[in-house]
Amino acid sequence: MSETAELKLDGKSIQLPVLEGTENEKAIDISKLRDQTGYVTLDSGFKNTGATKSAITFLDGEKGILKYRGYGIEELAEKSTFLEVAYLLIYGNLPTKTEIEDFQRKISRHTLVHEDMKKFFDGFPSKSHPMGQLSSLVCSLSSFYPESLDPHQTKEEFELTIIKLLAKMPTIVSWIYKKSLGHPVLYPQNKYDYVSNFLYMTFGQRTEEITIDPVVIDAMNKLLILHADHEQNCSTSTVRIVGSSDCNLYASISAGVSALWGPLHGGANQAVIEMLEKIKNDGGDVDKWVNKAKDKNDSFRLMGFGHRVYKNFDPRAKIIKKACDDILAKLGINDPVLDIAKKLEEVALNDPYFVDRKLYPNVDFYSGIIYRALGFPTEMFTVLFALGRLPGWIAQWKEMRENKEPIGRPRQIYIGEKDRTFVDIASR
Ligand code: SDX
Repeated sequence: MSETAELKLDGKSIQLPVLEGTENEKAIDISKLRDQTGYVTLDSGFKNTGATKSAITFLDGEKGILKYRGYGIEELAEKSTFLEVAYLLIYGNLPTKTEIEDFQRKISRHTLVHEDMKKFFDGFPSKSHPMGQLSSLVCSLSSFYPESLDPHQTKEEFELTIIKLLAKMPTIVSWIYKKSLGHPVLYPQNKYDYVSNFLYMTFGQRTEEITIDPVVIDAMNKLLILHADHEQNCSTSTVRIVGSSDCNLYASISAGVSALWGPLHGGANQAVIEMLEKIKNDGGDVDKWVNKAKDKNDSFRLMGFGHRVYKNFDPRAKIIKKACDDILAKLGINDPVLDIAKKLEEVALNDPYFVDRKLYPNVDFYSGIIYRALGFPTEMFTVLFALGRLPGWIAQWKEMRENKEPIGRPRQIYIGEKDRTFVDIASR
């Protein structure tokens, strides 16, 4: 007999089923609550509410554990490549040599974007934010591939839609960057692997051959792996709920890009660097800024600190912090902002305000320092987060569709006016 939870309400008692996941997480299944009691639950920000059952990513916020399809993030970041991890998230297993070669070959066939997409790039104001461009450009892919609008695509057609999106994202992201510099864009070269091709299109020039530093390739793979998925975060939940209306993949991912843009979510990596720069330019007095973050009358927050789920160190932050030292040393870069970040972390982690609230550095706290060392401008950081998160969004959207989940439609408690009679404007 499986466990149940008893709910006593209005003199009645009902039993609600209890579910247990493979990592021993427990949930009370309230899917029949309203039918049985007339009540709904209320949970602002869904802090206590599970939206789905998923087999993709597991994280334990108390223990600082993150696994993709059962593989620890530490091992994947150390031993795998981003394309392998994308395959793992989307199809459920690490690929064989044949499978990953076939995957890379399929992607290489679709890295070009329609030439007419250039008109969109030309239409954006020169200083428009890259995330606004990315969201628009990803959604515009549905115009070039109208067959993707069919919610009942065959398995093969849906597979091709996934391949096209994975293949074109690096091209779109690099073109956004090139356009921001006023440089001519570079076309993908099939001789390169997925990440090297992105780096070539981003940092290459039409005027000369470039050699891509293996240190940069390794760092980029690691960063993209660390951002690849994170269970039901804000942007992933957005992708799932938009997809639940039978909306096409491109528009669903475009919505996820918009959700990620927010500085409380993926936009934090840009906000962290802007914050560290501000502290540096203000003389580097980290105590002053930590006190501002603690002051309830001050809207300033320590960007890159705190997390809805991690009440311990974000395992990704640990890996990125170590990678920071390695990569800056290998590239011979001394970034004073890194020293400020380390000082800020040390002060905050010894301050009761942060310790009591279990506020630790998250994935965004150090990632911007590496992106900067690799040569990316601050405004591109969240676009790079989206490039990394793409396979996770696709995997989650695919799982939601394969499980035939119902359209997402939360309930509410109404607290507005009651029974008012219409009054003509002359009498108002
Ligand atoms: C990502 O969900 C995911 O998995 C996201 C992500 C992913 O991979 O998809 O991990 C990526 O989005 C990482 C988070 C990036 N955001 C930031 O770094 C922005 C700064 N952090 C916060 O704004 C905040 O910590 C959140 C948004 C991340 C989490 O907010 P919660 O869970 O809603 O917590 P809260 O706002 O209710 O804060 C609890 C308390 C409050 O104080 P009290 O009301 O209890 O007195 O902690 C305080 C907050 O004021 N607090 C902070 C703080 N974060 C929380 N105080 C100062 N600085 C901060 N950064």
